[in-house]
Amino acid sequence: MDIALDTVSMGRMGLQVSEIAFGTWRFGRETDAGNLEIDRERAHELLDTYDAAGGRFIDTANVYGDGKSERWIGEWLADRDREDFVIASKIYFPTRDDDPNGNGLNRKHLRRQIEGMLDRLDTEYIDILYTHRWDDATPAREFMRTLDGFVQDGRVNYLGASTLRPNAWKLVKANELARRYGWEPFTVTQPRYNLVDREIEGEYVEMCREEELGIVPWSPLAQGFLTGKYERDADLPEDSTASDSEGWEDRYLTEANFQTLDVVREVAAEVGASEAQVAIAFQRHHPQITAPIVGARTTDQLEENLRAATVDLSTEQFERLDDAGAGPFDSLL
Ligand SMILES: NC(=O)c1ccc[n+]([C@@H]2O[C@H](COP(=O)([O-])OP(=O)(O)OC[C@H]3O[C@@H](n4cnc5c(N)ncnc54)[C@H](OP(=O)(O)O)[C@@H]3O)[C@@H](O)[C@H]2O)c1
Repeated sequence: MDIALDTVSMGRMGLQVSEIAFGTWRFGRETDAGNLEIDRERAHELLDTYDAAGGRFIDTANVYGDGKSERWIGEWLADRDREDFVIASKIYFPTRDDDPNGNGLNRKHLRRQIEGMLDRLDTEYIDILYTHRWDDATPAREFMRTLDGFVQDGRVNYLGASTLRPNAWKLVKANELARRYGWEPFTVTQPRYNLVDREIEGEYVEMCREEELGIVPWSPLAQGFLTGKYERDADLPEDSTASDSEGWEDRYLTEANFQTLDVVREVAAEVGASEAQVAIAFQRHHPQITAPIVGARTTDQLEENLRAATVDLSTEQFERLDDAGAGPFDSLL
């Protein structure tokens, strides 16, 4: 590709990451309708496309594609220099049926999973390990201490917490505990955030600023809604797998969201970019956001999304987008 992604600092960490991360949730994933979204060959083509744009920040999880996502990334990395990439993965969701310790953040599950992840990724360490969800059944002191052990023995470099809204206070409490005992705190968060999913604005974003956490949003395109390929009162396009997911239509195909999309379309026409590029550029221009994790099912989609790195928005355009569909929380900008 004829673009080169820049790097940005991750919160207050020393780590540098690409300004756009690539998400691999759909590698090896079957939709609710039973369709495989991305097979191994396509997964490697997508990683090649990201690499060709200078992309260095890859997001996965132990459960994506039942481990296929990590395994396929590991196989792809085998022909490359592991040191060039920042690999983030996650633990929480069940990995063993009928095993009460086969899920969550209990020590037994964390220890078994970190070994499996390193094996599948064929690497000695993970750059960022996220708790995929908060585990209220396990005391924070148990998982913070266990996670700190992974940092101390070199298997993990940084800790992150994903999707814990609305419980921002839980992260602060866990970080205070970690600091009291000299353990590694969370330094990055991964919430859902895009122009039509604005729940984190308000207390959560304020907490991230106070704690100096990096914010790496998932679903920056609202699982495809913000690409503009869905129209009011029209049949769903055939080249979409997101709409196979239960609840997706009710969540995204609302009149309020289409009104936000109208503003995205307006700005896209003004800057000569696609709707997807404007939605991603909004995040790049957002002072609180470190780097959005874009998803893509095809290399054409990914190329289009990565070209968002070349889209400049004026302050007025950014504010118009920010005002469109702003949620119940006051914008903090
Ligand atoms: N921490 C968490 O709990 C969590 C949760 C979800 C995701 N994530 C991470 O965030 C990543 C991104 O999430 P996401 O897949 O929901 O992201 P997204 O970027 O909002 O949506 C990606 C989907 O939108 C469609 N799309 C993307 N670019 C397009 C384009 N240019 N034109 C038309 N359609 C396009 C594709 O689906 P179709 O072609 O099928 O429409 C694609 O699979 C995941 O891979 C994962 O790494 C984390």
